[in-house]
Amino acid sequence: MTIQNTSSAVMSQRRSPPRALDYFPTPPWATRALLEHVNIRGVSAGMGGGEIPWSELTVWEPACGEGHMARVLAERFGRVVVSDVFDYGIGAAVHDFLGVNDLAGSPAPVERPHFVITNPPFSAGQQFIEHALDIATMGVAMLVRTAFLESGERYDLFQRFPPRFVAQFSGRVPMVMGRLDAAASSATAYCWIFWKAPACGIFGGGRSTSLLWIPPDARARLERPGDYPDQTEGGLL
Ligand SMILES: C[S@@+](CC[C@H](N)C(=O)[O-])C[C@H]1O[C@@H](n2cnc3c(N)ncnc32)[C@H](O)[C@@H]1O
Repeated sequence: MTIQNTSSAVMSQRRSPPRALDYFPTPPWATRALLEHVNIRGVSAGMGGGEIPWSELTVWEPACGEGHMARVLAERFGRVVVSDVFDYGIGAAVHDFLGVNDLAGSPAPVERPHFVITNPPFSAGQQFIEHALDIATMGVAMLVRTAFLESGERYDLFQRFPPRFVAQFSGRVPMVMGRLDAAASSATAYCWIFWKAPACGIFGGGRSTSLLWIPPDARARLERPGDYPDQTEGGLL
């Protein structure tokens, strides 16, 4: 399914996922911060490749939940493919991005997207990144807890695949399990990690990672009316 840029207020009936799926919806402003502060662009292959217009770029959001990140991606990308292992009732393809629980064997909704962008389940962040880097032809962006940068296991990942950018939020991104809540608070720090896809020779090279800071006023600048579900009418969507 390809998502449209529609308000969350008009989405369908809500379904609750199992806790193990780590459903933490992303406030829309945090996805706009990626698009504004990280230099994501499509470049055509070949010598001196020109910039590809956004309208011709495909992004796959493979853990889309109720589509809070995907709808923001649709503000920029021409095509946003959405899927999740759980059926949240928004019409997204039901597909296990890691293929391990895919008893029904539902096929990937897209084979080689230009970009893969998501907020992966915390329990499987590294597997999501490795698979995304395998299939994306231009780039991969993942929203993770900043603590994800630690650990010996991920040291190896970052050595093999050095990110191009780490964009650290200066302010907190309040994310809570199971719901998008404008009034939520958080003690957890988050960052975006962006890789240029290894498959894309034109991006190639460059083993160094640039550290960026997303300014503290990002939320105030990037929130829009309709970003949060209307919780007064008995449903989150
Ligand atoms: C942190 S939430 C992110 C939701 C959404 N991307 C957003 O930002 O609003 C993680 C999502 O991963 C999904 N998920 C967990 N395991 C998955 C898998 N193996 N394949 C696809 N989706 C998975 C969960 O159902 C959940 O929607």
